[in-house]
Amino acid sequence: MAEKVRIGTVAEFSDGTLHGVKAGGTPIIVGLVDGSLHAARNHCPHLGLSLTTGPGGTRFTDGTVQCPWHNSTFNLCTGENLDWTPGFAGRTMPRWSSKLIALGKKPAPLTVYPVTVEGEDAFVEI
Ligand code: FES
Repeated sequence: MAEKVRIGTVAEFSDGTLHGVKAGGTPIIVGLVDGSLHAARNHCPHLGLSLTTGPGGTRFTDGTVQCPWHNSTFNLCTGENLDWTPGFAGRTMPRWSSKLIALGKKPAPLTVYPVTVEGEDAFVEI
């Protein structure tokens, strides 16, 4: 059963960057997309690594999260995988190499969580 967990104030997440926070004991990412907050597990479905800590740095543009390890991209609102292992550490590699970089793992989505706002506070259902 989902648990509703306060993650902070709306103002804390309104700067357009991707935030890594904990909801209960679960690491999540939170970002603002078209005026609404969205959240997902801070766990890349490729190798389970952090989406906010890695050699490529945190990358978040127009609702798209890019993994700092092998550059896979995801829609933060839906979790959909948009590109799978196209490079390394923020650098694009030749397209033929993406299957090698994938290490046999198939494309998979992020785990997303609903975000609700009550007054000035933001909550995720996790
Ligand atoms: S760990 Fe994220 S793309 Fe490899």
